[in-house]
Amino acid sequence: MVWENTSLASIAANPFKYQIKAKIRIMAQNSHINSQLPSDISTAISRTAKPSSEFYSIFSEEEVLGIIHALEVRREIPLKYSYKGRGAKIWDDFYRKYVIPRWYGRSNVEIELLKDNFQYLNGNIKLGKTVNIVDVGAGNSYPVKNFVQRLNKLGKINKYIALDISEQLLIVSRNNFKKWFPSVEFSSSTIDIENTCVPKILFQNQAGIENDDTAKIFLHLGVTIGNHQNRDEVFKNFRESMGKNDLLVFTNETGSNSAWDGKVRGGCKYHVEEIYGWVKSKIGIKSEDCELVRKYDLKTDSIVANIKFCHNYTINFSRMGIDKKIEISEGEEITIWRHHKYEIPKLLQELERSGLQLLHYSTDKYKSHIMVICQVASNYSNPI
Ligand SMILES: C[S@@+](CC[C@H](N)C(=O)[O-])C[C@H]1O[C@@H](n2cnc3c(N)ncnc32)[C@H](O)[C@@H]1O
Repeated sequence: MVWENTSLASIAANPFKYQIKAKIRIMAQNSHINSQLPSDISTAISRTAKPSSEFYSIFSEEEVLGIIHALEVRREIPLKYSYKGRGAKIWDDFYRKYVIPRWYGRSNVEIELLKDNFQYLNGNIKLGKTVNIVDVGAGNSYPVKNFVQRLNKLGKINKYIALDISEQLLIVSRNNFKKWFPSVEFSSSTIDIENTCVPKILFQNQAGIENDDTAKIFLHLGVTIGNHQNRDEVFKNFRESMGKNDLLVFTNETGSNSAWDGKVRGGCKYHVEEIYGWVKSKIGIKSEDCELVRKYDLKTDSIVANIKFCHNYTINFSRMGIDKKIEISEGEEITIWRHHKYEIPKLLQELERSGLQLLHYSTDKYKSHIMVICQVASNYSNPI
């Protein structure tokens, strides 16, 4: 056999290759070399995925460690990371193609809900005062365009602050916003709202000496709250970022329709398909080695999209001083997308345990989406 004449130097240069070869030899001996050998071998050997160099250029060391941790502990590559790098274009393209309202009648639930709640939100701004709009998970900022336009006409906007985990989406947001509203102050910053509060420095006045006392409307649109793994932490981070005159406005899907009806539609279809391709190529998983599965997951009470592995796999992270191998068994699944829908009593419980208080909510005409407006609970003493 070829490897029996292999020199020690070449084994030292490529020990992994020879480990596998040695395994194959033992297996071959044990199985008396029959005609089934190639397929037996292919199922028994663990295939290896090596994240691309682009992967390491998109994610910081902390984020790579976050991905490794989520893979180890929850078998998940959190969706939030899929908005970075080319993921920003994937989201913007998806939004432009499927979500932007069209003249022939396609409406956008979120834009409609912001319209429905305009009176309430505007009525909450103190007479003669302006507000800062803090758009957390701003994406391409498209959903806030009409809302900002109306408030701006009334002279109610101090500035718009776009925050997002994705640097690339913040560039899209800036380009859009500056084109739509050249005279409204725009600032932006990256943030992972699952891990941190909104930095107070963003609200310092121009001299940078003291916080300005302009009230803030925090927006968290696009049903993003339902995508987070740790919603309690996100609500807590919002609460810690808010002053007593501030509001948090978020949207989600609602109703007991989180039961899986087997129909893939909207983001669960088109966005997920693109993310699936993106994750496979960035992590280095071959298309023929896996399949995409969507289903309801009881443990997280969410609809999930998973990569299901058809073979044993090793994902080998070996850069940035990180050296970590994650073993995935044939048949195992890794979640790359999730969405939790709310029923109102459960939503109220989540708000309450995070120190937030519901002020107002409304649903769209199909009762499928909800817009929630809340403030810091009156019995919560905020350090801000
Ligand atoms: C579903 S999109 C919604 C975008 C926009 N708000 C909309 O309604 O069209 C989610 C957005 O939130 C951002 N995002 C997701 N998780 C985040 C996190 N933990 N911290 C900050 N931004 C996050 C994504 O990068 C993306 O721009």
